[in-house]
Amino acid sequence: MTGRLKDKVVLITGAASGIGEHTARLFASEGALVVISDINAAAGERLARELGMHFIAADVSKEEEVERAVSSTVGWHGRLDCMVNNAGMVGVVGSILETGAEDWRRTLSVLLDSVFFGIKHAGRQMRELGGGGVILSLSSLAGLVGGVGPQVYSVAKAGVIALTRGAASELSAYGIRVNAVAPGLVMTPLVEEVYGGHDAALRGGAAKSPLGSAAMPQEIAASLCYLASDEARHVSAHTLVIDSGVSAAGAGAAPQFHHQPADFLGRLPEQYQ
Ligand SMILES: NC(=O)c1ccc[n+]([C@@H]2O[C@H](COP(=O)([O-])OP(=O)(O)OC[C@H]3O[C@@H](n4cnc5c(N)ncnc54)[C@H](O)[C@@H]3O)[C@@H](O)[C@H]2O)c1
Repeated sequence: MTGRLKDKVVLITGAASGIGEHTARLFASEGALVVISDINAAAGERLARELGMHFIAADVSKEEEVERAVSSTVGWHGRLDCMVNNAGMVGVVGSILETGAEDWRRTLSVLLDSVFFGIKHAGRQMRELGGGGVILSLSSLAGLVGGVGPQVYSVAKAGVIALTRGAASELSAYGIRVNAVAPGLVMTPLVEEVYGGHDAALRGGAAKSPLGSAAMPQEIAASLCYLASDEARHVSAHTLVIDSGVSAAGAGAAPQFHHQPADFLGRLPEQYQ
């Protein structure tokens, strides 16, 4: 531990798994007071107990739940220094010609409305408290390059970049920095679900990337740690791309998501139906 985030109060959504979990672990080890939030209460509570931190259940697609997570964080710690809008899912996958309006809306609500709610309510609290702050959101390579992500997912992640720029311009007046991270393939349960397992994800994605690798969630957590820390105090409105060189090499280097086996078309994961 080097104390890069010493005593900073941080709320992380989707912190029960993958990038969010590793961000919670790293931030806690760097001295932050982390509030772990997730829709998965069992896993979130387990991690919070292990780290000795608070947990709050919240479905990020619901504004009142995001607002409650933010106000509870301030209630527990008296401050909010950093909000990480990380929660996400793959959402509806398949041809845009077959995508239903309900699946479109539900996917956007989890991936994009959530970031709007996070920026809005964290930004309000930070403005009110008067000490500035940092808001970080998870975009994706899919939001930058056509054809490397499912259609609706890509739209949402492009929206996250636009929202980041707009919010950064507006909120800088209150000393609030707003940034995003856009990873390529990161080896988490989300990716393993899409590819049908860890080894398949490595073969399908990493093998095609220019660096021949897929990032680990700990590495995305490290970038978020930098952006959350005072070392990045002049960094705002920025989207940090961490994609093993895929965007430079073009979409041909990346996995394709638009032509999935028939049984995967136009279907949301069970918990979102
Ligand atoms: N893994 C990758 O390759 C990759 C690449 C680019 C961007 N991302 C983004 O990184 C973020 C984290 O993804 P991950 O790979 O760690 O996935 P993950 O599945 O390991 O973790 C996602 C977490 O979000 C939670 N979650 C899902 N829906 C929620 C909701 N409605 N409300 C609250 N919590 C909810 C899940 O319970 C889970 O704990 C996502 O926004 C994802 O789109 C991931």
